[in-house]
Amino acid sequence: MAFPPRYLTSFGPRQTPHFFTDVLIIGGGIAGLRAALAIPASMNVLVVTKDSIKESNSAYAQGGIAGVMSPEDRFENHIEDTLKAGAGLCDREVVELVVREAPEQIGDLIRFGTQFDKENGQLALTQEGGHSHRRIVHALGDATGHEVMRAIIERARQASHIRLWDRTCLIDLLTYEGQCVGALVHRPRFGKMSIWAKQTILASGGVGVVYRETTNPPIATGDGMAAAYRAGAQLRDMEFMQFHPTVLYVAGSSRYLISEAVRGEGAYLRDVNGRRFMLPPNPTPADLRPDPGRAELQPRDIVAQAIFQCMEETQHPNVYLDLSHLPPERVHERFPGISKVCRTFGLDITRDPIPVRPGAHYMVGGVTVDSRGHSTLPGLWAAGEVSSSGLHGANRLASNSLVEGLVFGAACGRGAAEAARAMPDRFVVPPLEYHVPPCESAERVDVTDMTNSLRSLMVRKMGIVRERKSLLEAERSVRFWCRYALGREFRNRAGWELQNLLLIARLMIQAALERTESRGTHFRSDFPERRESEWGQRHLDCPAQLPD
Ligand code: SIN
Repeated sequence: MAFPPRYLTSFGPRQTPHFFTDVLIIGGGIAGLRAALAIPASMNVLVVTKDSIKESNSAYAQGGIAGVMSPEDRFENHIEDTLKAGAGLCDREVVELVVREAPEQIGDLIRFGTQFDKENGQLALTQEGGHSHRRIVHALGDATGHEVMRAIIERARQASHIRLWDRTCLIDLLTYEGQCVGALVHRPRFGKMSIWAKQTILASGGVGVVYRETTNPPIATGDGMAAAYRAGAQLRDMEFMQFHPTVLYVAGSSRYLISEAVRGEGAYLRDVNGRRFMLPPNPTPADLRPDPGRAELQPRDIVAQAIFQCMEETQHPNVYLDLSHLPPERVHERFPGISKVCRTFGLDITRDPIPVRPGAHYMVGGVTVDSRGHSTLPGLWAAGEVSSSGLHGANRLASNSLVEGLVFGAACGRGAAEAARAMPDRFVVPPLEYHVPPCESAERVDVTDMTNSLRSLMVRKMGIVRERKSLLEAERSVRFWCRYALGREFRNRAGWELQNLLLIARLMIQAALERTESRGTHFRSDFPERRESEWGQRHLDCPAQLPD
C-alpha cells in the first residue's frame, strides 16, 4: 500500500464549496504576507491562516532581523558568519542573495511602518551568537516579531487585492496532472472547502510542536510540510531541527524563549555550581572578553550541545543565565517582555539567575526550493521555515530567519505572480476524482494521548544528542503509531495535526538515522565527527514513499 495515503480526508469536488483565486498563500507569518505584498494589485490573492492572523511563529520572534546596516560591517562578514554557522551545508549563492537583499527588505519594513528601536537617532543594532558584528535590528526591546507583524498585517489589510481568511486550516494541497492547483481547507462555518489557484505559495511555518519542549506556539505542527510531501514535492534535510539554547525552564509551566540577544548584551551562562561552562578550562583574558564567536556567543548548535552536556554532567535539569553584572536599567529597558514574564515566576532578571534549557526552535530542513522559491512540484512555491532554500545549511545563524522569510517571500510573490499571469484566465474545477475515504474510523484514537506520547518520545530519542539505538527505538514506535493513525479519517484539526506530526517525525527520524555523522544541529554520539569525504555538501532528500 502507498504510504502515507495521498489525502488525509475524503472529499469530492462536487461536495465542497469552491473558491477561485490567482494566487493562494498558505500562512500569514512574515513570509506569507511579504509574498502577498509583492504581488501586483491586478491579481487576486488569498492568504489563509490556521488561527488568528496575529498568531504566527514570526510574531513570537524576539531577537530581531540580521542585516548589514552599519558602516563598520560588510556583506562579506554576514556571508562568512552564515556559512560558518551552517557547518558546510549552505548554498553560497543563496547566502549571498539573502545577505545582499537584507538591508533593502529591512528598509521596506520601515516603509510599511515598523518602528525599529533606535539609539542616537540611528537604528540600534544588537549582537547574537555566531555574528562577528552588531547587525541585528530589533523592536520594542525584545518583541521584534510582534511589531514587524503589526506593521505588515496592517499593510496587507489596506491592499484591496489581498483577502485574508483566518481560522482556515490546510488539510491537503490539491494536485491535477502533476501540478499543484490549490488546496483543500477546513473553515469552521463552511466545513471542507476547495480553493483553486493558478499558483500556490506555502508559508506555513515549522514543526516545533513535534517536541514536548519547544519555543513554538501550538500552531506549529508541520501541516504545510506534510501536505507538500503527500502531494509529491521534495523535502530534504529533516534531521536538522535547531534547538534554541535558552528556553525558560520552570517545571510545569509552558516554555518561554529567552532571546539570544540577552547573551548578545553580555549575559553569562552558568551551571548549577556557578561555573561559566562555555569558557575553556584555563581561560585567558581574551577568552573573558565579551567577544563574538567566543564563549556564550558561539553559534547556537554549539551552545545548545554544551548546555546538554553540562546538564548531564551536573545531573541538574537546567543551567542559568546570569545578568547580574549588567546595568539594571539597561536590562529592563532592553528586555521588557522577558523581564515581565520572569517576574511572574518571582524572578528579577537583574538579580536572579534565570533557569534555562534548550528547546526545539526551528526546522532547518523542509520543502526543497530553488533560488526563486519554487518547489519541485509545478505550481507550488515555498518560503520561510516550511522551506529548505540552502540559506541555513545544517544550522541557522541567529536572526537569519525573518530575513529569509522577507527575501524568499518577496521572491515567491513575484515568481508566482509571473507564472499565474502566463496561465489562461479560466476558472474551472479540474476533473479530480472523488477521493475514497480511508476505511477505518478514528473514533477510538485518543489524539491527545498519542500526540503527547510522540512529543515526549522525540525529546528522549531524537533530541539534541542522538544515536542509532535510540533512533531505531523511536522509529519503531512512530511507525507503529503511523500504522494505527494514518489510515483513519479524522474530522477535526487536532486529528489532522497528529497525522501531520507523525509523518514529519518519521521523516526526521529516518533522516537522522541515515546521516552517520555530526554536523550543525544534528549530533550523533555514535558518529561524533563531521565526515567531509562522505557527507560534505550532501543534502538528504526524503524518500518519495515510506514503508508502512
Ligand atoms: C532569539 O531571539 O534568540 C531568537 C532569534 C532567532 O531564532 O533567530
